[in-house]
Amino acid sequence: MKVDVLLGLQWGDEGKGKIVDYLTPKYDIIARFQGGPNAGHTLEIKEIQHILHTIPSGIFHPGKINLIGNGVVIDPIVLHREIRSVEKLGVDMKSTLLISKKAHLILPTHRILDAASEAQKGDTKIGSTLKGIGPTYMDKTGRNGLRVGDILLPGFREKYHFLVKKHRELLKLYDFSYKLKEYEEGWFEGIEAIRSFHPIDTEHYINQALKENRSVLAEGAQGTLLDIDFGSYPYVTSSNTICAGACIGLGIAPNRIGEVMGIFKAYCTRVGSGPFPTELDNSTGEMLREAGHEFGSTTGRPRRCGWLDLVALKYSIMLNGVTRLIMTKADVLNRFDTIRVCTAYRHNGKETFSLPFDLGDNVQPVYRDFKGWMTDTSGYTSFSELPREMSEYVRFIEEETGVPVKMISVGPERDQTIYR
Ligand code: GDP
Ligand code: IMO
Ligand code: MG
Repeated sequence: MKVDVLLGLQWGDEGKGKIVDYLTPKYDIIARFQGGPNAGHTLEIKEIQHILHTIPSGIFHPGKINLIGNGVVIDPIVLHREIRSVEKLGVDMKSTLLISKKAHLILPTHRILDAASEAQKGDTKIGSTLKGIGPTYMDKTGRNGLRVGDILLPGFREKYHFLVKKHRELLKLYDFSYKLKEYEEGWFEGIEAIRSFHPIDTEHYINQALKENRSVLAEGAQGTLLDIDFGSYPYVTSSNTICAGACIGLGIAPNRIGEVMGIFKAYCTRVGSGPFPTELDNSTGEMLREAGHEFGSTTGRPRRCGWLDLVALKYSIMLNGVTRLIMTKADVLNRFDTIRVCTAYRHNGKETFSLPFDLGDNVQPVYRDFKGWMTDTSGYTSFSELPREMSEYVRFIEEETGVPVKMISVGPERDQTIYR
C-alpha cells in the first residue's frame, strides 16, 4: 500500500480539515506529519463546528486510527483541551489516537519565547500564531528539545527544568514580562493525559500497516507557501509543509507516496505578515472576507483576501508532485460578476511566470478576467450540474496546471462536496 497525501497549496486554511473528514471513510489511518497547534482545521458536521489543532481530522469516524507523527510539535495543554472536548462528544479515542514518542513537546517557555521574539520584531513581525512553534522547532534542530518519549523515562522533570532554565536565560535578552507558574500546572496535567495514550514509535506502526495493506492518508497542516524552505521566507512557519515533509514527519520512504492531493481555495487568503501579490486591500477583498467568513480558526484574526494566483499555485504543484487538485470554497465566488485569476507577474517591469526570490512590492499580478456564474451553487452535488462559467473556470485551471480537479467543495458541510 502507498500513503496518499493531502496538503495545502496556498498559505493555509484551504479547507484541509473538511476534506480529510470527507475522505476518511476511504482510509484506515489518518496521520498528521508536521506543524502543531498553529493549525486550525475546521469540520462542520450537521451544522456543528469542530476546530482541531493537533488531533487529525479523521477523529469523528469511529474505528479509524488517527496518528500524530514524529514531525508534529505538541503542546500538552492544547492537546489535553482538545482531547477533552472531542471526548465530550462521545468519541472514544483511547485505542484509536496514536501519538509518536518522537514528536517534540512545546514547553510553556517556548510560547513565551515566541511572544517575546514577535514583540521585539515590531513592524517586521512574522504574524505568528504565538503557539511556540518557531522556538520548539529551533530546539529540535538545535538538539535541545524534549520529546514525548522522554515523559516515559526517569529524569523527565529534571530535563524539563534544565531546558526552562536555558529559556529563562534567553528571555533576559528581551524586554518582556511573563508568568510561567500559571501555565506549568496545566502543562503537567497535559503530560499525564499524553501518557495515558501510551505513546509509541509510530514509524514502525505505519510501515507495518502498509505491509498489511492498510490505507493511510497523511494530513498536511499550513500550506506550501508557508514551507520553511520554499515559502515566502522569513514569513513562513518552521516546518516542511510540502509532500516531502510527510516522509520525514512519519518515517515513510519517498517511494511509499501514492496520490498527492493538493487543495486550494478558488481565491486566495493569507493570515499573518508577508508578501501576497494578489491581495485586495479594497471593497472586493472585504466582500471575499465576508462571503468566505475569512477569520482565522486558531487566532480569530481577519484573513487577508485576494484573487487566485496561478503563478504561486503552479510552483506549489511542482514542489509537491500534485496528482489531483481539490478546489474549495467555490461557493464564495457565487456573487462575483467578474472573477480574476493571476496568470503571470510583472517583476521589476518584466513579465515572469515563476515566483521570484525577492517576492514583494516589486511584483504586480497580471490578470485574466472570467465571467462569474452568479448562481447559488451550495446545493450542487455533481460536476454536470455546475454552471457553464464555473466549468470554464475549472477547465482553465486544469489546462494551466496540467492536473485534474477531482473535487470541488461548495460549502463547509460534509455533503457539500462534489467528487468527480
Ligand atoms: P484548514 O486549516 O485548511 O483545515 O482550513 P480552516 O478550517 O482553517 O478554514 C477553512 C474554513 O472554510 C472553515 O471555516 C471551513 O468550515 C470553511 N469551508 C471549508 N470548505 C468550504 C467551502 O467549500 N465553502 C465554504 N463556504 N466554506 C468552506
Ligand atoms: P492551517 O493548518 C494559516 C501562519 C501564521 C504566520 C506564519 C507563522 O490551519 O492551514 P507560526 O505560528 O507557525 O509561527 O506562524 O504562519 N500560519 C498559518 N496560516 N493556516 C495555518 O494553519 C497556519 N499556521 C501558521 O499566521 O503568518
Ligand atoms: Mg486553518
